[in-house]
Amino acid sequence: MKKVMSLLTATFLILAVATFIIAATTGPEEIKYTPKMGTVTFNHTAHQGQTDCATCHHTGDYAQCKSCHGVDSTAPKAKEAYHKMCKNCHKELKKGPTKCKECHIK
Ligand code: HEC
Ligand code: HEC
Ligand code: HEC
Ligand code: HEC
Repeated sequence: MKKVMSLLTATFLILAVATFIIAATTGPEEIKYTPKMGTVTFNHTAHQGQTDCATCHHTGDYAQCKSCHGVDSTAPKAKEAYHKMCKNCHKELKKGPTKCKECHIK
């Protein structure tokens, strides 16, 4: 019985650690931007099913977009980068919002 219990405890610990690692690397489930234009709610988890990570995280790491966009002069400004990435894909796939007030909700 003791053996079974310690086996269960070990399994539980492994699962807990694995869940933690997965949660830590896939990023937040939802991201909210709150510019003056109106709040944009981005469902990160739902979008992860639409394409590869690298489509959006094009530098291969998961650094915040604004750590380069708006800082590095060779990178387009943040607003332009978000709009280009978000709207272009929605337009291409004919899915997802493309009009200002469909994304920016007051
Ligand atoms: C449709 C685009 C898109 C896809 C696909 C996507 N992400 Fe993201 N992810 C984003 C955006 C946008 C952010 C917010 C970054 C910001 O605004 O600075 C983000 C944030 C993150 C963060 C948090 C970064 C931080 O420091 O706050 C992690 C980690 C992450 N993503 C991992 C992943 C992984 C792993 C995948 C693939 C399984 C993935 N993402 C797929 C768009 C995407
Ligand atoms: C480590 C720096 C860095 C990070 C982090 C980064 N970018 Fe970029 N990004 C760049 C640079 C530099 C360019 C311009 C050179 C190029 O096109 O590769 C660029 C170009 C782009 C372009 C234009 C591509 C084209 O085809 O015209 C888009 C759109 C874009 N980034 C969106 C994003 C989004 C959205 C995020 C966050 C999820 C992000 N980037 C994170 C550095 C970065
Ligand atoms: C690689 C393609 C792709 C990119 C990049 C992308 N989206 Fe989407 N998005 C989709 C698709 C496909 C749907 C429709 C999903 C459905 O209806 O099942 C969608 C739906 C949405 C929706 C409405 C459904 C919901 O999740 O509430 C919003 C809002 C949205 N996207 C915001 C964004 C924002 C903001 C960005 C940029 C940070 C972005 N998307 C980048 C493909 C993309
Ligand atoms: C697919 C979703 C989407 C659509 C459609 C969209 N936006 Fe955005 N917009 C965003 C995201 C995401 C950001 C980045 C917000 C942030 O950085 O806080 C943004 C940022 C902005 C900003 C910059 C805000 C700031 O304070 O830096 C302005 C202004 C803006 N959008 C106006 C517009 C207008 C005007 C339209 C229609 C022509 C439009 N947007 C359509 C998603 C969208």
